[in-house]
Amino acid sequence: MSAQSQMRRKTVRDIAKAKGGSPLVCLTAYDAPMAQLLDPHVDVLLVGDSVGMVVHGLPSTVGVTMEMMILHGQAVMRGSVQAFVVVDMPFGSYETNSDQAFLNAARIMKETGCQAVKIESGSYAATQIKHLVERGIPVMGHVGLRPQAVNVDGGFRAKGKTQAEWSTVLEEAIAADEAGAFAIVIEGVAPELATEITTRVSCPTIGIGASASCDGQILVTDDMLGVFDWVPRFVKKYGDVRGEVTRAVSAYADEVRARQFPGTEQTYQLPKPPAN
Ligand code: KIV
Repeated sequence: MSAQSQMRRKTVRDIAKAKGGSPLVCLTAYDAPMAQLLDPHVDVLLVGDSVGMVVHGLPSTVGVTMEMMILHGQAVMRGSVQAFVVVDMPFGSYETNSDQAFLNAARIMKETGCQAVKIESGSYAATQIKHLVERGIPVMGHVGLRPQAVNVDGGFRAKGKTQAEWSTVLEEAIAADEAGAFAIVIEGVAPELATEITTRVSCPTIGIGASASCDGQILVTDDMLGVFDWVPRFVKKYGDVRGEVTRAVSAYADEVRARQFPGTEQTYQLPKPPAN
């Protein structure tokens, strides 16, 4: 048995235990090679519905389908061995009622082999979270800036700026926690609100544009690697993949045009055919 296949995948208990402890390291992944690169460094890989914008060029996550989430979830499972893998439930796959949520969540779990699903947990979603957890599906909540609500919010807006919004986000987080969510993503809120949520809920919180006081952090991998020119202000760029791709591709284009590529090292030197 290889060292890789002996490695134990993290479970929901490992994630829940992180409350108040060493911060959870989480990143998004959408394909097998990237999952393989990230896997040794992270606790959680999220197959986020951000895949619609990051990989498929959609203007928002609203157009993401179950089929897209399952295809990318399968790839991330193939590429990882130890990370806890969570797959996002896409817009329209869980909001109607608990039966719809269960059928779609069960399909994601069965067809990808992932360990949990994530739901953008507005107040309507607590019933669904409880229903899924009672039936064996671990659920991660997501409060604050909820990208699937982009059309009612009129854009991707930070949340909690008014007292009413602050209370709504706090209530949504408490409802998700009480419904049995094993962790909650808090996106795009003031650090004070993220801290209050983190203190009030029993499960770990995972911040994105929130606060270092959360029990973990997540970023969209392509944002932190510098794949895009523009990123939200809460992203810190840890790499310059865009610059590196531009450098490599322009070097390739120059060499092809100058007939320098392929050289002798990249071509097959076959023995000369015997003379007749
Ligand atoms: O879809 C996604 O990538 C997410 C993260 C931003 C938390 O939900």
